[in-house]
This record gives sequence, structure tokens and C-alpha cells, in this order.
Amino acid sequence: MSLTILQFGASGQLSRELIDRSTADVMIRALSRADADLADPDAVARAIGEADQVDLVINAAAYTAVDKAESEPDLAYAVNARAPRAMARACQARGVPLVQVSTDMVFSGAKAGAYVEDDPVGPLHVYGASKLAGEDAVLDLCERSIVLRVSWLFSAYGQNFLQAMLRLAETQPVLKVVADQHARPTASGDIAAFLIAQAPRLAALPAGAPEWGLLHFANAGAATRFEMAEAIFATAWPDRPPPAMEPVPTSAFPTAARRALNAELDCSRLAAVFGVTPRPWREPLAEVVAKLVDAKNRKVA
Ligand SMILES: NC(=O)c1ccc[n+]([C@@H]2O[C@H](COP(=O)([O-])OP(=O)(O)OC[C@H]3O[C@@H](n4cnc5c(N)ncnc54)[C@H](OP(=O)(O)O)[C@@H]3O)[C@@H](O)[C@H]2O)c1
Repeated sequence: MSLTILQFGASGQLSRELIDRSTADVMIRALSRADADLADPDAVARAIGEADQVDLVINAAAYTAVDKAESEPDLAYAVNARAPRAMARACQARGVPLVQVSTDMVFSGAKAGAYVEDDPVGPLHVYGASKLAGEDAVLDLCERSIVLRVSWLFSAYGQNFLQAMLRLAETQPVLKVVADQHARPTASGDIAAFLIAQAPRLAALPAGAPEWGLLHFANAGAATRFEMAEAIFATAWPDRPPPAMEPVPTSAFPTAARRALNAELDCSRLAAVFGVTPRPWREPLAEVVAKLVDAKNRKVA
């Protein structure tokens, strides 16, 4: 039997990866900003309450401008906290489960090892705090909910570090890349594949099942931004010397929102509860880089 996911977000990198993986059995009705503006909680609640068929709601939309959020806290909280709150209420009222996508940026980065779901949170900025408020609202108000924390997303879609590196390598004589932040780079496509595969299970799961609650998802293996950049260039241009790079500390790039140095997510709960172990990040990275290089070559030809 087919099921329908009502998805908030249509144009973002994760949203598009989810849409790409929808099937005749797991269909997605994706809502753009024009369909439901997350700054308007009533519009969000109406979208869930009035949908024809909905078996699972996924919120892949968010206010993601980490630095800009420092000067737009009201909008960041509206989209990242009040909208998920409205989703959680509407899902609970309709008896539909909710997956809220969240972030490693709820943590301060002060821990020495990888963060587990129960570790104390301590966001360093408005974006992280607004996402944390969204997490709390969802877990409080919707019994059948998962808050899926992810980190350092990359994809052939949207704006992300991988694409920025490929672009900057074409124009900068020496690339300065941060070498003191580390996390588990994660393919948006792998998160999407996980969610689509789990959708039938989640749609049927009762309240109280161990699957509900906080969950970390990240590809295997940690890296610094510098190491990630090295892997990007080695994959993109195996036959030519890599661009000149200089490792720099985070302090070399002052930003409005302070970045955590450690954003590694431990994914043991994912393995224990779902039996899923994400693959090493270099594998999907190679696939995404190949896709981008191929698209560029076809444009040039
Ligand atoms: N990117 C990362 O490295 C990263 C890391 C950790 C966690 N996350 C989390 O992962 C999730 C997906 O992120 P992403 O990278 O796919 O984000 P993204 O590419 O920046 O896309 C964000 C999406 O949210 C939509 N959106 C923003 N404001 C909206 C509003 N007021 N009403 C309706 N839609 C709105 C955007 O629509 P428009 O196109 O119309 O603006 C866009 O579709 C988010 O929850 C994010 O917090 C991301």
C-alpha cells in the first residue's frame, strides 16, 4: 500500500534529495514557502490539518542562515521553533508522526568525544538556540516524533561547503581552509534514503516505541574542513595537482555566530534501534563530486 509524506521544504538541498527518492509506494507532497510560509504557524497547522492524505510529516525546511540569524532572531525563532511547534500540535491532533530535522549546532563543541543524543546541549548562537527550541517543542507535543540531528551536509543541490570549495578553487590562488573544526560530513542524499526507507515503518509505529525521540544521523568517519577539502579536490581532479591550500584556525574567519570546534555526532543509537550504520562520508562525497564534475563537463562540451 502506498503512503504519502507531507514535506515542508521543496527547494533546499535535503528537500530535493528527498523528492528525488520518492517512489510510487512512498510519495511526497512537498510544500514550498509559497504553499506554507513557516513564519506563519497558522499556515503550517492548516497545511497539516487540511491535507487530503498524510501518513508522515517531514520538516526539511528551516531558517539556515547561521550568521544572519544573529541579526534576525525573531524570524529564526519563528521558522525554527514556532513552526515546528505548530507542526507538532497539528500532527498530534491528526495522529500522524513527525520527523523534525535538526542540527549538531545545538551543542557547544566543548566535549572531547562524539556527541550522543543525551549529552547536554549548549548552543553558541541564535540559530542553534532556535533549532533547539524547535526540538524541545516537537518532543514535548508530538508523541510519535523523531528529532533527527545531522551535520555538515553536502549535496549536488543547494549551497554547501563542497560546492563552495570547488567554486573557490577556480578563483583563489591559495585557499585558506579551517583546520580546527571537526565533524562527520554527511550526504543529504543518504539522510533522504534513510528517511524514505523508514517511512512505512514510522507511519505504522505506535506511540511509546523505542524509535521515537532524539536520533543522530551522520556518515561514518570524522574530518576537519581542511581534510574534507583535500578529499573534494583529490576526487574532482585526480590527474592534476591539488589547489594550493593553507590550513587556518577558525579565528581566521571571524563570523557573527561563533562556530563549535567539535560537532561530531555519535550514531550508536541509530545502529542499535534502526540497525542502520551510515557508510563512510568519502563514498557519497565521491558520488556527489562526480555528479558535479560531469554536469560541468557537459555544460562546457
Ligand atoms: N546544511 C547543513 O550543513 C546542515 C547541518 C546540520 C543541520 N541542518 C539542518 O538540515 C535541514 C535541511 O537543511 P538544508 O541544508 O537542506 O537547508 P537549505 O538548503 O538551506 O534549505 C532550507 C529550506 O527551508 C526553506 N525555508 C526557509 N525559510 C522558510 C519559510 N519561512 N517558509 C518555508 N520554507 C522556508 C527554504 O525555502 P526557500 O528556498 O524558499 O528559501 C529551503 O527550501 C535543516 O533543518 C537544517 O537546520 C543542515
